[in-house]
Amino acid sequence: MKIRSSEITPEHVYLARPSRRAFLKLALAAAGGAGLVACAPPAAPTLVGPTPAADGQTDELGDAVNRFEDIVNYNNYYEFTTDKAGVAGLAAGFTTDPWTVEVSGLVNKPKTFGLEDIRQAFTSEERIFRLRCVEAWSMVIPWNGFSLSEILNQVEPTSDARFVKFTTVSRPEEMPGLSNPLYPWPYTEGLRLDEAMHPLTTVATGLYGRDLLPQSGAPIRLVVPWKYGFKSIKSIVKIELTAEQPATLWNTVGPSEYGFYSNVNPEVDHPRWSQASERRIGEISRRATLKFNGYETDVADLYAGLDLAANY
Ligand code: MTE
Repeated sequence: MKIRSSEITPEHVYLARPSRRAFLKLALAAAGGAGLVACAPPAAPTLVGPTPAADGQTDELGDAVNRFEDIVNYNNYYEFTTDKAGVAGLAAGFTTDPWTVEVSGLVNKPKTFGLEDIRQAFTSEERIFRLRCVEAWSMVIPWNGFSLSEILNQVEPTSDARFVKFTTVSRPEEMPGLSNPLYPWPYTEGLRLDEAMHPLTTVATGLYGRDLLPQSGAPIRLVVPWKYGFKSIKSIVKIELTAEQPATLWNTVGPSEYGFYSNVNPEVDHPRWSQASERRIGEISRRATLKFNGYETDVADLYAGLDLAANY
């Protein structure tokens, strides 16, 4: 495989952006992640026209963002198919409007948000995050979104709430993969409440400044950058606050292979393969996997005193 020229950040572009790079670094290193990457248009408009170019953008480590074409043509979305290259075609035309997200459970003010409510109530910003799949491939993606905590604060979790459960839409007539009997549909995921409240835990409605395409989890998905990609659940219709740890699809299918935490950790291998390195889409050689996917300074405190090998 050849490295595409668009994936290499020219030195002059890299050096011309010291202030932005410094800001990204500072923002992400801020204790508890109090500050965040805000460097793009406020909302993710629906764009038509040519495919957006990476324009030398990098994450805070200096890694180039992946090409738009790679991000939207190499996908995991099992409700459509388990074939990564086949998702985009099968998901084309998937109905994403109208759409509602019910936020309920142990909250004082349960609310069902329409997509327009979400777009108006919460200001989207660009957040460039690494996505590291449990299968050991990765990408750098410029999302448009905001912190999940903004939604949770509106509904006011009660003092009994300790976990957050997420559910993907289940529409068999549009999602052929739902007939696959190997999986306990609908797709569900979960976080501890403190993980869900962390500023890096992002609700994305766009990428590359465009509304999400169906294959990327349109119209609204989660992005938890320090965890394996399967925690970043797509096309969310329900967010529920619970007292008990919720069952999740992957943890139900293979508890010894897909833990509830699933923090990216090069020191804890998957039972069937190493997690020490990864294949960045668009690169030739493998690269070392970083603990917490490189977000260790932001999130390690969440796990103080926890045995990460036992709580994988
Ligand atoms: N969400 C749903 N509903 N269904 C899925 O199959 N796959 C997960 C996650 N979210 C998945 C999902 C996995 S394994 C990964 S790696 C990421 O989505 C991939 O996101 P991407 O296709 O946008 O790169």
